Amino acid sequence: MKPRETDHTLIGPFSQVVTMAGLPENGPIPDEALQVLENAGVMVLNGAITQVGDYNTLLQVAQDGGYKLQKIEQPMVLLPGLIDAHTHICFAGSRANDYAMRVAGKSYLEIARSGGGILDSVRKTREATAVELVDLLRKRCDRHLREGVTTCEVKSGYGLTVEDELKMLEAISLVNKHHALDLVPTCLAAHMRPPEFTDSQVYLQCILTELLPQVKELELANRVDIFIEDTAFNEEEALEYLLAAKELGFDITVHADQFSTDGSKVAAEVGAVSADHLEASGDEEITLLKEAGVIATVLPGASLGLGMHYAPARRMLDGGLCLAIATDWNPGSAPMGDLLLQAAILGAAEKLTTAETLAAITTRAARALNLSDRGRLAKGMVADMIAFPINNYKEILYFQGKLKPAIVWKHGEQV
Ligand code: NIG
Ligand code: FE
Repeated sequence: MKPRETDHTLIGPFSQVVTMAGLPENGPIPDEALQVLENAGVMVLNGAITQVGDYNTLLQVAQDGGYKLQKIEQPMVLLPGLIDAHTHICFAGSRANDYAMRVAGKSYLEIARSGGGILDSVRKTREATAVELVDLLRKRCDRHLREGVTTCEVKSGYGLTVEDELKMLEAISLVNKHHALDLVPTCLAAHMRPPEFTDSQVYLQCILTELLPQVKELELANRVDIFIEDTAFNEEEALEYLLAAKELGFDITVHADQFSTDGSKVAAEVGAVSADHLEASGDEEITLLKEAGVIATVLPGASLGLGMHYAPARRMLDGGLCLAIATDWNPGSAPMGDLLLQAAILGAAEKLTTAETLAAITTRAARALNLSDRGRLAKGMVADMIAFPINNYKEILYFQGKLKPAIVWKHGEQV
C-alpha cells in the first residue's frame, strides 16, 4: 500500500545533526570530514529516513503536505543510534569474585582453577531456565537502549552443548522479536572446549555436524565466532572449523590477538568480516587484516576490566583499517557495558579524532556487522537516532560518556 503523505513525520529542529554520511570506509578520518548540519531536521516515513536537511525548508514541505511534526523544544544534537558490534550479554550469574581476585593480583589461570572464569558462567547459564535467560537479557537490552545503543550484537558461548547453545540463541531470538533494540545473534559455541570433551577437534566437529545446521535451519544466527588463544582453540583447529562454517554459509568473526597473535592470521586467511580484540596486534597483523579487508573491532571494555593495555587503534587507522569499537559486555572481562564511555576513553588514550571515534560506534560498527541500512542519517537509512541535550557535538566525547542521550528513536518511534 502506498504510504499516505500524512504518515510522514518531521522531527526537529536540532541545533546540529551529525549525519556520519560520506565518510571514508577505511583509515583515518579528519574531523573536517564530518557532515554537521546546523538547525536541521529529519523526515521519517515507515521507520526510515526520507530526508535530512535544513529545518525551515523541511518545515515548509511538511506544512504543505500536512505531515506530522515532532517539535524539539530545547537545544539538541542528533546522531545515528549507536551500534555495539560485540557483546556476550546473554548470560546468568556474576563474576564479581573473579574481579576481586584479579584486582588483588591473581592470574587468569589461578582464577579458573578456583572455580571462576568462562566455565563458571557456563555453569550458571546452563542452570538458568530459558525464561530466566530471556529476562536477564531483556534487562540488559533495556539499559543499552536507554544509553543510545539501537543495534547490538549478542553471542552465545556460555552453553557449550548443542542444547544449551540453542537455548541461548533462542533466548536472543525471542528478545529480538519483542524488544525495540535490534539484536544481531552470533554463534560462539567455539568459545572454549567444554569439560565434557577432552579433544577440541572432536568438540568442534560436533558443533559443525550437530549444532550449526540447526542454527541455520532455525535461522537463529548467520554469524559464527571462535576464541583463538592458548586457553581456547589454536590456529589449526580454528582454521578448519571456520572454513567449514563458511562453507555452511555463515559470516565469520574471530576473537583474535587478545593475548597472543595467531587469531588475526586466521581471520585474514578465512576472509572474516571482522577480527575483534586485537590488544596484542602489531604492524604485521595490521597489514594482514588490511590486505584481507577484515574490519578491526577493538574492545576497550575488556582492557579496562582486565587492567591491560588497549588495542593499538591509532596504528590500525593509520595502517588503513576500518576501526569499530564495541563493549565486549560480558560477565568476566568486561562487566561495564557502556559503549559511549569506553569509546571516549579509548579515543582519548589512542588520540583518535572525534570523527574516528564516533564513526567506530556508528557507521563503521554497522560495517562490522555487515549492515548497510544503518549507522548514518541519510535517505533510506533506518530511523534509529539519538539526541543529546547540548548544542555542539564536541561536547559528547568531552563528557567522556557521562552525558547520555535525552531522546532515543528506534525505527522513527521515540522509545
Ligand atoms: O571477549 N575472550 C573471550 N571471551 C570473552 C570473555 C568472556 C568471559 O570471560 O566470560 C571476551 O573477553
Ligand atoms: Fe568477546
